[in-house]
Amino acid sequence: MSMNLVNRTLVKNAGHIAGEWCQADSGATIAVYNPATGEPLGQVPDMGVIETRAAIDAASQALAGWSALAPKERARLLRAWYDLIIEHKEDLALLMTLEQGKPLFETRGEVMYGASYIEWYAEEGKRAYGKVFAAPTADKRALSIQQPIGVVAAITPWNFPNAMITRKIAPALAAGCTIVVKPSEETPFSALALMALAEQAGIPAGVINMITSSQAAAVGRVLTDDSRIRKLSFTGSTRVGKLLYAQSAETVKKLSLELGGNAPFIVFDDADLDAAVAGAVISKFRNAGQTCVCANRILVQDGIHDAFVARFKAAVEQLVVGNGLNDATTLGPVINQAAIDKIAGMVDTAQSQGASLVTGGQRHEAGALFFAPTILTGVTQQMDIARQEIFGPVAPIIRFKDDAEAINIANDTPYGLAAYFYTESHSRIWKVAEALEYGMVGINEGILSNEIAPFGGVKESGQGREGSSQGLEDYMETKYLCMGGIR
Ligand code: SIN
Repeated sequence: MSMNLVNRTLVKNAGHIAGEWCQADSGATIAVYNPATGEPLGQVPDMGVIETRAAIDAASQALAGWSALAPKERARLLRAWYDLIIEHKEDLALLMTLEQGKPLFETRGEVMYGASYIEWYAEEGKRAYGKVFAAPTADKRALSIQQPIGVVAAITPWNFPNAMITRKIAPALAAGCTIVVKPSEETPFSALALMALAEQAGIPAGVINMITSSQAAAVGRVLTDDSRIRKLSFTGSTRVGKLLYAQSAETVKKLSLELGGNAPFIVFDDADLDAAVAGAVISKFRNAGQTCVCANRILVQDGIHDAFVARFKAAVEQLVVGNGLNDATTLGPVINQAAIDKIAGMVDTAQSQGASLVTGGQRHEAGALFFAPTILTGVTQQMDIARQEIFGPVAPIIRFKDDAEAINIANDTPYGLAAYFYTESHSRIWKVAEALEYGMVGINEGILSNEIAPFGGVKESGQGREGSSQGLEDYMETKYLCMGGIR
């Protein structure tokens, strides 16, 4: 594998079950490619039903010991893991750029973002409080305690190969749960490197188990069917999320689902234009447009429309498309052939439906999976591009007249993850923030994710929250204790 890592022991070609690095029983493997060059990077085991069951067995066996540890002791181990991640930040960033494609400045940022969840939950795990209630009769006392939900499972995506894993493992472990993780088969090396560092930090065998697999449906079925898994946390598409939701009904599992989005990014006439342009660029083109919270539709009010488009075009044309290993690069490739074909098809369809091309619009010469940063104007809410999650570097601009129209367009979608708007008006900030049917709203801000905030969506964008104290509560159950016979 052509990886110039300082610490080669971080490159693992094995899954991790019950404290052992292991291959698939069948001997099958998955090849992993660099999306910037198409070069093979290496391979990991293609595990299936048998290994998934073994991982659940291991997590179940480790549960009693891990949940019995004092939160302070769990915090110490999580902190040790965090420290190792920071120590190996450069290697983790390089590994991620190689397998995912995003530029080094973004992967460095993601390593820090991912680590922030571990640091934060190491602390927050100590603050799982119960409650004492005023009892209804004199002979009773009533209280509640918080307990870990049990063994949990996490299925994570390729767009954030590090942070979507730590955002689930850290609160789970802080709460006292043990976990089975299935990372994306497109980006398993970042996940396995995190696993190696967790082992080095002293997190006991069986507490974190990682299975690499291309058999998503079969593995998902084992995880949802097994009654020992008490909670499933999934980040990915709404289609798969609905499937896992339905499959989890049989065992009545708790679910955290972070699914698709169709984020509106609204620029009102009174916006600070420079701030709105900078926010739109970062929100739209972060990770080549491949995040669930990326601006998917840019709504611009009549009075500022042409000025915004001119400045946005100038800013977008400054983006440097290329291999993420080059320091100058600001826009990397998309993940695979299916992704680029879909994006190209969406841009063609939008134009055939009446949208005008301002810049970009075609594949980029940097390589097979690169798409030129693209702006389309004259987009309407009826066009396919305004209704689907683009997941690529394409910015469709919709013109609107007034606040009511902007809110109607923004809410006209089954999705409800993130929304953004720019205005200098105090009243508008409150009115619009309250009217948007979204789980998260960026106000004069294009990036809203961090460890202290409750990340999550409404409607078909999912349920549950990750980050913040709510993220910890989602891995715990409340147990009510009623004490009678008090004389
Ligand atoms: C996602 O795209 O799923 C996560 C984005 C983020 O954490 O900002």
